[in-house]
Amino acid sequence: MFTRSNRRTLAAAVVCAGALALGTPAMAGAVPAHQASSQTADEGIAAKAADKQGQKSQGRPDHAGQPGKPDHAGQPGPPDHAKGNGKGPGHGGGTDAPGQTQCQFTPEGGAVEGAWERDSLAGVAPEDLRIGNIAAGGGHHSDADYPDPFPSDPEYRDHVAQEYSSVTHENYLKWEFVQPEQGVYDFEQADAVVAFAEVNGMDLRGHALSWHSQNPDWLEEGDFSEAELREILEDHVRTVVSRYAGCIDQWDVANEIFQDDEAASIRDSENIWIRELGPEILDDIFTWAHEEDPDALLFYNDYNVDGLNAKADRYYDLISEQLERGVPVHGFGAQTHLSMQYGFDDSYQENLQRFDDLGIHTAVTEIDVRGEVDENDMMSPEDRAGAAERYATVLQACLDVSLCNSFTIWGTLDAQSWVPNTFPGEGDATLHEGDYERKPTYCILQRTLVEHEEGASAWEDDASFEECRGILEEAGV
Ligand code: G3I
Repeated sequence: MFTRSNRRTLAAAVVCAGALALGTPAMAGAVPAHQASSQTADEGIAAKAADKQGQKSQGRPDHAGQPGKPDHAGQPGPPDHAKGNGKGPGHGGGTDAPGQTQCQFTPEGGAVEGAWERDSLAGVAPEDLRIGNIAAGGGHHSDADYPDPFPSDPEYRDHVAQEYSSVTHENYLKWEFVQPEQGVYDFEQADAVVAFAEVNGMDLRGHALSWHSQNPDWLEEGDFSEAELREILEDHVRTVVSRYAGCIDQWDVANEIFQDDEAASIRDSENIWIRELGPEILDDIFTWAHEEDPDALLFYNDYNVDGLNAKADRYYDLISEQLERGVPVHGFGAQTHLSMQYGFDDSYQENLQRFDDLGIHTAVTEIDVRGEVDENDMMSPEDRAGAAERYATVLQACLDVSLCNSFTIWGTLDAQSWVPNTFPGEGDATLHEGDYERKPTYCILQRTLVEHEEGASAWEDDASFEECRGILEEAGV
């Protein structure tokens, strides 16, 4: 798992009675139980960093593992707001003293140890690599001729729980859903996804604490002073992170902050926070989040960073500088929305590796590979084979980089995917056909994982993989 290697085996405090298979949405008001740990987070960080050599660390890497540097990750200095009486009322989850926080959505009876069938992606992945998908809901689903998949479709939920060891809210944790009116938080759907993950022993990637998109109108169109905006942002970050302290393992703290121009300049007109408060606000957002959950890994996340390009360079420079300043940044997420209409850089792994060399985690956070589709919503056989190869290349890169700790696919069924909605005429981007039959893209991921973990003969001989062997053979992959 991402961060708390012993989280699932903790003798959990009973904190929330009655969690259902879907998870109980209405747990508002439940008090997070703080569980003391004999190993502090910072001791854990240092210990994990020691085994980085040749092995993925499941814990937060020690940025300061490089000799001579202070321990940035664990000990951010007291931020301005915290001087005096510390955190304001209403948050409650944070503490400057690191330690493990029990997730308030842990089911009665204790944390669930995730267990996956051998014939599933999570079942054949290395223990320190989470394979994820999204809890599809919000977004264009609200206008589609079917209800939001996550809350409405038990078959869908069963599939996600059986196949994956991590889940990300597709839309329910974005600002427009969580704070639809100023100061009024709505966690109903977001809580349900978190409870679902806890009940099924899955990890969670939290998406996203700050972004230029999917913000509520009251925020984008409001007339706020700098001080008011800063307060609004801090309240949101602290409220959301503290609610899910101990539950959400990784946060996309700042999403898509650079643009697609040649210089990959910072998004200082669209992104309200950067425009109004300056890029310095990024340090504060990471610091607030870290204070509310010192065990969560804090990430940047962006698209078009699928190789050694200008945008990825900007992240590399920014993160390097922040680490020097002691900002608690722990990861770089490459969304990896690929299209068969465009080329694919062969420096994907090299790009991840340079962040790994900084001592931070990497993750493939939103992968899908789309292409032009026919009347059956399928790519050509050539593009399907090419898409499968790209999925495999990216997974292999993640497997070969020591601190790449999750691989998340952005969508389960094509009918629910954002792709056809955003790019009419394109699709076929996910791993399953409409009836959950496996595509070659699924099977090549299974093969890549099995061969990596157990060698080629396991893939060729084990009866568990017969179905996928046949699918790949038929597809000529
Ligand atoms: O808000 C409007 C609403 O007013 C209008 O009635 C409705 C009509 O369809 O549209 C609403 O906007 C939709 C929005 O979700 C709602 O939150 C958009 O049409 C819809 O396209 C949008 O889609 C989401 C998209 O993010 C928005 O950027 C997708 O469901 C979601 O999968 C996608 O996810 C993003 C990640 O968060 C970040 N990385 C890229 C990824 C794919 O775009």
